[in-house]
Amino acid sequence: MTTGKVIVEVPATSANMGPGFDVLGLALDIYNTVEMAVLPDEGLVIEATGEGAKLLHRTGSRLLVDAAMRVFSASGIDPPGLFIRQHTRIPVFSGLGSSAAAIVGGMVAANSLLAEPLPPDKLLDLAAEMEGHPDNVAPALFGGLVAACRTDDGVKHVRIQPPASLLVVVVAPDFQLPTKRSRDALPATVSFEDAVFNLGRTALLIAAMFSGDANQLSWAMEDRLHQPYRSKLVPGLEDVIAAAKDAGALATVLSGAGPAVISFMTGNRKAVGQAMKEGFLRHGVTSRIMEAAVSGRGALSSVKNY
Ligand code: HSE
Repeated sequence: MTTGKVIVEVPATSANMGPGFDVLGLALDIYNTVEMAVLPDEGLVIEATGEGAKLLHRTGSRLLVDAAMRVFSASGIDPPGLFIRQHTRIPVFSGLGSSAAAIVGGMVAANSLLAEPLPPDKLLDLAAEMEGHPDNVAPALFGGLVAACRTDDGVKHVRIQPPASLLVVVVAPDFQLPTKRSRDALPATVSFEDAVFNLGRTALLIAAMFSGDANQLSWAMEDRLHQPYRSKLVPGLEDVIAAAKDAGALATVLSGAGPAVISFMTGNRKAVGQAMKEGFLRHGVTSRIMEAAVSGRGALSSVKNY
């Protein structure tokens, strides 16, 4: 067990990428920081600062601690006491992977404290089990764009580096939408036609990412499995998407379960962000523009030991 302190940076993530519901996720360069150290005496000391720090004391910190505990119990090593300090920059309940960041931050920090008894794939399995789906936790761990799905042999994933020419802008409305509420809006079944619609787009999207042909995104990010059902929870969503397109975006989709919206383009980023913000404002929703970039770095590649 490390006697010093570990520091982990965990990226925000945007899940689904349009058609890839519960499967695709992209890491963004907005990072939460988790510091963790073993204490010689029994007990838990937690400090939280930053975005939603008060709320994090109740929910995010509990998730982070639970995640760390799962690593300790899977490794059979139990530290006497634990010090945790987290600084959050990822807005909570916004569709930018704040719960995945808490889970992954807790797991990677705990695993590093123990000198890494668990391999990355095991961390992915544990994190996806806690989160309920792998599309945020996978890019939070590995960075880049990740395709991940559950199989009988655990979660399998492939990491893809999106084309360097691809720019993103995120516009996060100033209200929160818990994932559970956004998932409750989904139907129990979908039509065969809609399933095939999404299969085609997901395949096109992945092929476009590998080939570097960003222009395909205009078609490849259409979705019929979740966004149409969730639009009633995000006032102005359709108007924001149309405004982004008029300002030069290739594709604009709900980020994860929302309410943040993410736009992809190869130019005009500022104009697109502004058009989206104004689109929300026309529906009485204030928001903030986050000019994030794709993060090639996940929590696993960010660990620092002191
Ligand atoms: N795939 C998930 C959803 C991501 O859309 O509900 C949110 O956590």
